[in-house]
Amino acid sequence: MAEPGRDAAVADEQAARERELIDRVVASFDGAADERLKTVLQSLTRHLHAFLREVRLTEDEWTTGIGFLTAAGHLTDDKRQEFILLSDVLGASMQTIAINNEAYANATEATVFGPFFVDDAPRIDNGGDISGGAAGQPCWVAGTVTDTSGNPVPGARIEVWEADEDGFYDVQYGDDRTAGRAHLFSEADGAYRFWAITPTPYPIPHDGPVGALLAASGRSPLRAAHLHFMVTAPGLRTLVTHIFVRGDELLDADSVFGVKDSLVMDFEEQPAGTPTPDGRPVGDTWSRTRFDIVLAPAT
Ligand code: BEZ
Ligand code: FE
Repeated sequence: MAEPGRDAAVADEQAARERELIDRVVASFDGAADERLKTVLQSLTRHLHAFLREVRLTEDEWTTGIGFLTAAGHLTDDKRQEFILLSDVLGASMQTIAINNEAYANATEATVFGPFFVDDAPRIDNGGDISGGAAGQPCWVAGTVTDTSGNPVPGARIEVWEADEDGFYDVQYGDDRTAGRAHLFSEADGAYRFWAITPTPYPIPHDGPVGALLAASGRSPLRAAHLHFMVTAPGLRTLVTHIFVRGDELLDADSVFGVKDSLVMDFEEQPAGTPTPDGRPVGDTWSRTRFDIVLAPAT
């Protein structure tokens, strides 16, 4: 039996009122001078209202949501970007990356940029060391940069950055150190190589509202272990990506959905005393990996 006051005619009237509001809000953007802005705002309106109606959002929940966004805003400054973190944990960053880095032949897949890139990292020669004293097991990384026809790409700028074995990027120490980051250029045959440290898992910043959201959802803030790359070369699509460590238990649980099977690499552990590729003495164990980078044409 219908609730008192909730017969079919009333339910129809309620749905009509809700739909009429959507129509009015959508129409309010009809005059936007920029067609793209109009498309985005009208679609956003339809999807936002569909969400509100689907979950029958309560006024208390609306207040909680506004409080969440307000807290994210208060925490955000030029160093901490809680809204990007929110986009990351909702998979919105990865979806935007997927849309904007269309699959192209055998081009290497892209993944999240993250907040820890700096654009004045030191230059190293091929075979140099990006660790800058960052704690961790030495790791030899080598590969090539080619286009999708297999032609070597000489002079590609390769930016590399990573957290230390304690799970922190240099910029998180707040003492102006530079460690775990550098840039280098591919050689005439497209080859590159450098020493880094073996990546280890670390948590995304989780002391704010996004961390609270993860905790309330029973989700971990940990990211699968990874090494960041950004590769640029004239005429080719800029690639922002990482490589991940095969066997890492977090590959299926990365907090920002950044893992792609094609980016999971073997990091082969080398026993202490194993000769290194460049003869560098390494007293303890070390690891090595190979990452061949394939760049799509620029569009
Ligand atoms: C990172 O890999 O550095 C990262 C990515 C997304 C959010 C936080 C950190
Ligand atoms: Fe990272």
